[in-house]
Amino acid sequence: MIRANGLSVSYGAVQALRDVTFTAETGTITAVLGANGAGKTTLLRTISGLVTPRSGTVSLDETTLTGERPEDIVRRGVGHVPEGRGVIAEFTVEENLRLGAMISPMSLRDGLNQQYEWFPVLGERRKQAAATLSGGERQMLAMARALIAQPTVLLLDEPSLGLAPLVTAQLMHTVSELCTTTGLTVILVEQNAKSALRIASRAVVLYLGRVVADDTAAVVAQDDQLRQYYLGMVKQ
Ligand SMILES: Nc1ncnc2c1ncn2[C@@H]1O[C@H](COP(=O)(O)OP(=O)(O)O)[C@@H](O)[C@H]1O
Ligand SMILES: [Mg+2]
Repeated sequence: MIRANGLSVSYGAVQALRDVTFTAETGTITAVLGANGAGKTTLLRTISGLVTPRSGTVSLDETTLTGERPEDIVRRGVGHVPEGRGVIAEFTVEENLRLGAMISPMSLRDGLNQQYEWFPVLGERRKQAAATLSGGERQMLAMARALIAQPTVLLLDEPSLGLAPLVTAQLMHTVSELCTTTGLTVILVEQNAKSALRIASRAVVLYLGRVVADDTAAVVAQDDQLRQYYLGMVKQ
């Protein structure tokens, strides 16, 4: 279980997070939703130690992560797939995966095979430069690069951004399968509330850095006010 407890973050005069508290249960998907600028990326960057909160803490099971260096937080089992994917375009698929495997407890060969099983298209394209991949394949590579380190928690920042609905649906399906078969805990940040709510068990909605809803995904998906004001979803 990973928990944010009263997190507040400021960038100079801009307060990006205000007293954010929520729990992501082990082996489940927690969606973090909200409009552009709501503080979603800041929340993930705070969890992975890239941003230092002004107050509040992040804990993983019984231990506190806040104050640890980002590289130590990765070693503690928290993988972060950043917004924009962050793969190295000039490197091949396999070279990108090797980078992720450097801190893996598994052999490189086993790690690669495992990722090629989850994402068969990456196996087919393993000698190709990441620059030549489609958007969806690049997102898979970014995820596989984090997963090859064998994290117990995966932070995903807007994986569906710029992807076609069908590609997004496939990706979400894989994330869901990963959780149910490996017990991975996922914090899924999305502006695309609809596809995230389909696979999440809980949803936290941020608005101007505050938590305005923290409930089951089913309840959030049915709440017209939330949908309209905070999630930009049109009534159907
Ligand atoms: N490095 C930064 N310096 C100054 N302000 C920032 C920085 N990163 C984000 N912000 C501001 O913090 C707020 C939250 O941003 P962000 O966490 O990126 O939101 P989201 O991911 O939900 O779009 C916004 O007002 C944004 O402009
Ligand atoms: Mg963002």
